[in-house]
Amino acid sequence: MTQSCVTPGLLHYEPPIFEIGAPGRNGASLPALDVPDVDPATSLGNLARKSPPGFPEASEVEVMRHFVRLSQWNHAIDLGMYPLGSCTMKYNPKVNEATARLPGLAGLHPYQPESHLQGALRLLWELDQALSEISGFARTTLQPAAGAHGELTGLMLIRAYLTTAGNPRSKVIIPDTAHGTNPASVALNGYKPVLVKTGADGVLLPADVEAVLDEDVAAIMVTNPNTLGIYETHLPKIAEMVHDAGGLVYMDGANLNAIMGKVKPGDLGVDVMHFNLHKTFSTPHGGGGPGAGPVGVVERLVPYLPRPTVEKHGDQFTLDLDRPESIGRVRSFYGNFGVLVRAFTYIRELGGEGLTQATEMAVLNANYIRARLKEAFPPSHDVDTLHETVFSGKLLKKETGVITMDVAKRLMDHGFHPPTVYFPLIVPEALMIEPTETEPPEELDRFCDAMLHIHAEAHDSPETVHAAPLQVGLRRLDETRAARKPRLRWTPPEETE
Ligand SMILES: Cc1ncc(COP(=O)(O)O)c(C=O)c1O
Repeated sequence: MTQSCVTPGLLHYEPPIFEIGAPGRNGASLPALDVPDVDPATSLGNLARKSPPGFPEASEVEVMRHFVRLSQWNHAIDLGMYPLGSCTMKYNPKVNEATARLPGLAGLHPYQPESHLQGALRLLWELDQALSEISGFARTTLQPAAGAHGELTGLMLIRAYLTTAGNPRSKVIIPDTAHGTNPASVALNGYKPVLVKTGADGVLLPADVEAVLDEDVAAIMVTNPNTLGIYETHLPKIAEMVHDAGGLVYMDGANLNAIMGKVKPGDLGVDVMHFNLHKTFSTPHGGGGPGAGPVGVVERLVPYLPRPTVEKHGDQFTLDLDRPESIGRVRSFYGNFGVLVRAFTYIRELGGEGLTQATEMAVLNANYIRARLKEAFPPSHDVDTLHETVFSGKLLKKETGVITMDVAKRLMDHGFHPPTVYFPLIVPEALMIEPTETEPPEELDRFCDAMLHIHAEAHDSPETVHAAPLQVGLRRLDETRAARKPRLRWTPPEETE
């Protein structure tokens, strides 16, 4: 086992809170009642409960320990490296949290009049400007609540634009290296996804796009860098071809953390792009919900942006609802404001040079891992990658019978979160690793040492790797059963009986 600074294994067992404590116990000491006692049955009649709700009855220390122990059941970026490819689990600077909690921001209510919201509106305006500047777009909407929500919004903008132009068209071209949410967003928008295979070196080739391009194509949707971590070198040429055929170009910009400060997608011919603030601008992961997936657009799509937009008049900021061509709202109020404050803080803290350096470090770290592991785990493609790198466990499986899932589980015993596995689908036994720019070299070395240790162990003692994880409270779970028969509700003992 390699030496690790992080907590290897997760050893606690924790019952649900309902099974902790005892009847009548509680964690609060309230002062004596100084108003008349009211019997709910008198005021509520039939609506009053017949018996008290089955709330947990536990003391403060029991509640505190319960939640702290639960928090320790999980791996966290604040505990150690989290090499999930595509998910970009990077450290989120705590200054972001401090600014998001400033009372003047955290205490705002969105129904306050515009005159009370000038600071918040200015922040939204400046974030729109910063994101547009970073990526080469005219404007950026901050409303969407996640990357996939941004995709949905971006495609709605394309549909609205083409509808006004006379024909929404029916198809969207998607390469097989696209993120999985892309075809789903296309289908959700009523378009038909048209799959294109990438070339042997992992990039999309103009000739393959040409073969499926016709007047029914509304757009091409390209993840760049793609899910192999490879930069789409032919994108400008492909954009030109799609434009000539009357379509638009959508770039899934979730991987902007690999190119920020180096290239502006707007300069490549991209018309619409979503950002994943959690992947590039160090905001917490939204779990598909309370995150942010802003969408940048070129000038001709600005009229269709969700309303309201924030507008600047001199030193005053207003909300513009009078936008007749807008696709409408895609999220209540102005999006997840707290997340936007965190991204704004990160951008202002790092500035242009700092953001470029973050990109360089992310790419350097991924390539360091690639160089150290490539003999043991051959990379999917023999070309340079950017912020993440995809290995194949095919050779290891052939030599030892140890599969990618075994390697991922064994990493937990070394104190690392497993990487993304079996994705992208086009790579057999895929292990997709994204260290991010925030990991120091010593941590990268510890991770590589652990991977090489597992590789050697797979040859010497494959049964140990098959049995992993060995040092965690719960061993290998039946993932099929967990997915097919999830137990989502605690059942009181009397009901179980
Ligand atoms: C390339 C890419 N596109 C889209 C998404 C979807 O983003 P979200 O999970 O915020 O919906 C992700 C997720 O990280 C991604 O990596």
